[in-house]
Amino acid sequence: MTKLYTPDTGAPPVKALEEVDLCVEEGEFVAIVGPSGCGKSTLLEIIAGLQKPTSGEVLVAGKPVRGPCAEVGIVFQGDSTFPWLNTLENIKFGMKAKGLPAKEQEERARQAVKLVGLEGFEHHFPRELSGGMRQRVAIARTLVLRPKIILMDEPFGALDALTRLFLGDELLRIWQETQATILFVTHDLLEALRLADRVVVMSSRPGRVKRVVSTGLPRPRDQKVMSSPRMAELANVLWEELKREVREV
Ligand SMILES: Nc1ncnc2c1ncn2[C@@H]1O[C@H](COP(=O)(O)OP(=O)(O)O)[C@@H](O)[C@H]1O
Ligand SMILES: [Mg+2]
Repeated sequence: MTKLYTPDTGAPPVKALEEVDLCVEEGEFVAIVGPSGCGKSTLLEIIAGLQKPTSGEVLVAGKPVRGPCAEVGIVFQGDSTFPWLNTLENIKFGMKAKGLPAKEQEERARQAVKLVGLEGFEHHFPRELSGGMRQRVAIARTLVLRPKIILMDEPFGALDALTRLFLGDELLRIWQETQATILFVTHDLLEALRLADRVVVMSSRPGRVKRVVSTGLPRPRDQKVMSSPRMAELANVLWEELKREVREV
């Protein structure tokens, strides 16, 4: 798959993705790392059906993606909460659009609030929450729709290290419970190795799949696994690949 952005302004086109070829198994947890601007967000948006590839296609369960669909949920990079809605209303937004019964919306939203640790903030508006809390609202908003495929674009980017660890564990629990397939963009190599079955390293723009590393690490990835020689070796492999990409820019 290839993606070329052609600006209306007459500026030269930008090739964001070039011949990206990636197959993700059902139920897999795949992390994507790559230099800034290499097309990671573009890739997720194409998979979610929010952008069209210039050439090639994305198949979900064997069917080509033609637009957004309920099976694929996305947590956007940056703050994507609606400022005019409170926490509960934000979380209910997608369920409302889907026409779920009010009672079910309420139940699922309350459950999600608990899951992401926002109890007591149900009626706060985004401006009254910290960046990390707003990000949790956005995550909950996607999770309540129970998508089979969850695309996450640096979802923990704005969070402190402890919250990151905690939410990472929560995400793994949800992943195991729901058997969802997860594609997770992060710039944190250790986070990628802690969460994923495979880590995809992308080249600098135009983004290509440069290397796919199967971690083969046992779960749960507790402190013992995280400090094992195998972990250090994998982190080193990823770091070397990325370093080369950043240098070549
Ligand atoms: N909507 C858009 N219109 C034009 N160019 C875009 C658009 N979105 C992204 N780009 C360009 O495509 C490239 C990849 O961007 P992006 O997918 O956001 O990268 P990443 O998420 O890896 O940082 C960048 O050069 C960016 O400027
Ligand atoms: Mg991005």
